[in-house]
Amino acid sequence: MSLGIPGDRNRFAQRLFADLPARYDRLAEWLSFGQNSRWRKAMVDHIVPGSPRRVLDVASGTAGVALQLADRTSSHVVGVDLTLSMLKIGQRNVAQAHQVRRVQLVNGRAEALPFPDATFDALTFTYLFRYVDDPQATLNELARVVRPGALVASLEFMVPPSRFWRGSWWAYTRLLLPVGGLATGGLEWYRVGRFLGPSISRLYRQYPVAWTVDAWRQAGFEDVGTRVMSLGGGLVMWGRRSGG
Ligand SMILES: C[S@@+](CC[C@H](N)C(=O)[O-])C[C@H]1O[C@@H](n2cnc3c(N)ncnc32)[C@H](O)[C@@H]1O
Repeated sequence: MSLGIPGDRNRFAQRLFADLPARYDRLAEWLSFGQNSRWRKAMVDHIVPGSPRRVLDVASGTAGVALQLADRTSSHVVGVDLTLSMLKIGQRNVAQAHQVRRVQLVNGRAEALPFPDATFDALTFTYLFRYVDDPQATLNELARVVRPGALVASLEFMVPPSRFWRGSWWAYTRLLLPVGGLATGGLEWYRVGRFLGPSISRLYRQYPVAWTVDAWRQAGFEDVGTRVMSLGGGLVMWGRRSGG
């Protein structure tokens, strides 16, 4: 499938994730002290009540969120991701979970989704905005493919608002994460460990939470809510496509 015109950020993300998939599921849990699955569950909690028939999961990676959506709803789930090697492990996970008929994985970019307007009844996206050039334009594109009234939820890392926890978070992301990554996953995970903390800080310097809430509204979502998770390590957001 054609990915449209990938930009530098897309190429960077593809390179970053290319060698991670083999250990991704295990290390994402270890290095987040098990918080990643808690956060995913809290995000999917906002989709389940809508009983959607077709859900889109963007930045689907190894399909962890897509499979949870399939488990907890009776919907057909489409997962989109930029990186083929992540999708390859995702496909294996889908097969092992016996969900091949309900979960379809597609190679694509969040910035130019390969679907007609209003295709989906619900949408999730996870850890995406640090990899796109223009979060507002990407949100507009995400909003385009969901129908009016669709429930939407997202998950992203966060910088803890409390000064005390921010100090511990800084020490963890700048020192322990690279070392932990190296020890558990080798050089590729050392590189990710070094990248992650500064990339999270950069995101919130450029786009504070209030900006993002406003950007969701600009894109056409209403009833936008946020929940700070694990003392500020994660942020779950949700809303509804206007007009339903
Ligand atoms: C940290 S992983 C998250 C995977 C999965 N959502 C999870 O929770 O485990 C981020 C994923 O975003 C994908 N990605 C980055 N930029 C993207 C873009 N512009 N469009 C679609 N996927 C993208 C990467 O390929 C990677 O698989």
